[in-house]
Amino acid sequence: MLGNFSYHNPTKLYFGEDSLSFLKDELAHYGSSVLLVYGGGSIKKSGLYDEIIAVLKECGKNVSEVAGVMPNPTVDKLREGVKTARECSADFILAVGGGSVCDYSKAVSVSVHCDDDPWDKYYIRFEEPDCKIVPVGCILTMAGTGSEMNGGAVITNHEQHLKIGHVFGDEVMPKFSILNPRHTMTLPKYQMTAGIYDIMNHICEQYFSGEDDNTSDYISEGLMRSLIHSSRIAVNDPQNYEARSNIMWTATWALNTLVSRGKSTDWMVHMLGQSVGAYTDATHGMTLAAVSLPYYRYIMPYGLKKFARFAKEVWGISAEGRSDEQLANAGLDAMESWMKELGLVMKISELGATEDMIEGIADGTLILTGGYKVLDRDEVVKILKASM
Ligand code: NZQ
Ligand code: ZN
Repeated sequence: MLGNFSYHNPTKLYFGEDSLSFLKDELAHYGSSVLLVYGGGSIKKSGLYDEIIAVLKECGKNVSEVAGVMPNPTVDKLREGVKTARECSADFILAVGGGSVCDYSKAVSVSVHCDDDPWDKYYIRFEEPDCKIVPVGCILTMAGTGSEMNGGAVITNHEQHLKIGHVFGDEVMPKFSILNPRHTMTLPKYQMTAGIYDIMNHICEQYFSGEDDNTSDYISEGLMRSLIHSSRIAVNDPQNYEARSNIMWTATWALNTLVSRGKSTDWMVHMLGQSVGAYTDATHGMTLAAVSLPYYRYIMPYGLKKFARFAKEVWGISAEGRSDEQLANAGLDAMESWMKELGLVMKISELGATEDMIEGIADGTLILTGGYKVLDRDEVVKILKASM
């Protein structure tokens, strides 16, 4: 049975090859001081930076910048961004990049007018913002996180070996997001496939939970089938617009608060992957890929019916002549083959995790209770060891 819920997503999307042309209209709603936030330079190389600066100038904006937002943005970088936003009295934050830049911009947006330290307030005490929030808009250059249409903002604290996500509410979600699949075409293959697995896992995290019959799971199955289909095309032909546009749109729907409505969710692969990321600073999607199969094979007996359904409905495996267990195993085998086809990283040791980190990674893994099996710490260690 579907549980009770409310649903509202305030982010306005512009999708397609001419989507950047709507930036000007959107900027007209906000004040003159714009903080432009971007990453390590990919937007300068691709020419997108120049295009955006031209629009900002045309709109008469005063532009300040925070450049060099790294993948897995750090708390130190967050404090730097807050300082810059205060110095320029930012009226609006324009995030141009992948999930890291978009997440980071949201974290800055709730911290500019807040006296507390953002790490302690939002990531340790998990408080909600009680100050003025600077509005954020996003121009996305990498499909994966869904950050363009959600309130998530993940920040890493290397000193404390913690990588933590805060999911903020409607008022922190981007006011608009510009999704032009062409902007993702310059991504290196490693990042493209990491993003694809991130999308797949977002859907799995919301699918592998609950026993009930609900619409959300049917939507998830369709999204997964589309992603698998398009990813196979994109990995062989990265410039294929049709495939890349489907991947980008699937990424948004995978984590824009829709497919979790009215049902429980798991999120343990993300908890494991994030803790691996806190130790290794590895690419987010690859940390998920490396822990996924040991995790799913471990919990499969506790959610057998759903894993059997996954095999049938997502991977098209026939149930005939197979027990639920055989069917469920065949589904995970099919996922493993697909992951290898994409060239994903299948072991955390390949991401720099070493045996002596396992206990610390387990300590940093938040144990959630929505999945088919609530893990204890020993089980977390066992899964991490199986991922080495
Ligand atoms: O920094 P630049 O030079 O732009 O390079 C980036 C970066 O090195 C590069 N890149 C992005 N677009 C490109 C490009 N290179 C060439 N051409 C382009 N068009 O790709 C690298 C990775 O970018 P990043 O933004 O770090 O990747 P992603 O989008 O995967 O974001 C990862 C962050 O998002 C968090 C992750 O934990 C991680 O910190 N997540 C956010 C979520 C949310 N908001 O709901 C949920 C996710 O589960 C995830 O946790
Ligand atoms: Zn993710």
